[in-house]
Amino acid sequence: MFIVSLYNLKGGVGKTASCVNFAYMSARDGYRTLLWDLDPQGAASFYYKAHPSHKNNVKKLLENEIEIQDIIMETDYENLHIIPADTSARKMDILLDHHASKKQLKTLLKKIAYDYDFVLFDCPPGFSILADNIFHASNAVLMPVIPTTLSIRTYEQVKEHLAEKGDIDKLMCFFTMVDMRKSMHSDVMQQLYKDKKFFEHYIPNLSDIEKMGIYNAPVPAFAPSSYAAICYNALWQEIKEGIF
Ligand SMILES: Nc1ncnc2c1ncn2[C@@H]1O[C@H](COP(=O)(O)OP(=O)(O)O)[C@@H](O)[C@H]1O
Ligand SMILES: [Mg+2]
Repeated sequence: MFIVSLYNLKGGVGKTASCVNFAYMSARDGYRTLLWDLDPQGAASFYYKAHPSHKNNVKKLLENEIEIQDIIMETDYENLHIIPADTSARKMDILLDHHASKKQLKTLLKKIAYDYDFVLFDCPPGFSILADNIFHASNAVLMPVIPTTLSIRTYEQVKEHLAEKGDIDKLMCFFTMVDMRKSMHSDVMQQLYKDKKFFEHYIPNLSDIEKMGIYNAPVPAFAPSSYAAICYNALWQEIKEGIF
């Protein structure tokens, strides 16, 4: 089982859109895939039309009242399962804090270690005890970055935090919502590419990606020959090569 978290300290950078598309491509490639929607906003669950069976599933899971297998659901796609966000996911930080451990999430996943090839976490933004649990459980922390000057600062903050936790080697980044007509975007990209933490392929700013909310589906499912799907496929290929 290889665990990848789509994480950024910032919101609105393309974590969820990317997580939903990567999970689809992983399943399509034949990997047994689980997407865990850890963001209480539940956007990834929305894209996959997944509704939790109970509003307190996450709370019960963290309080050891139910097993992780009990809250895994099927999606419309072969090889792809999901743990949808429920309202109790909002309290995940408090529930994890109670145990004051960064190991709890990883421990929960041990029960399904042989059931999945890939687990993808769609993460909420911010540094928190949940984020530390995510970093500890993940094999790779995959960070989408919009190439603006403010993002450089965020990128440095995340790097510093992961270095403190001993998890810096897990960090892998890619650019999203890129507009090459903007010189700031290409300047920032040239600067950050030097850091060797970034994949070469990037995701441009494309309206087909915004349409995921209209189709309630991943881009490669509803527009397989679109430029957006081509970009996501190329990046996913590079990520797989970087991982294996
Ligand atoms: N490459 C892209 N091009 C255009 N719009 C995008 C792209 N990636 C994401 N979006 C849109 O930007 C918004 C924020 O993306 P989202 O994936 O939800 O970010 P996050 O999960 O980091 O908060 C959404 O409305 C989404 O449709
Ligand atoms: Mg999101």
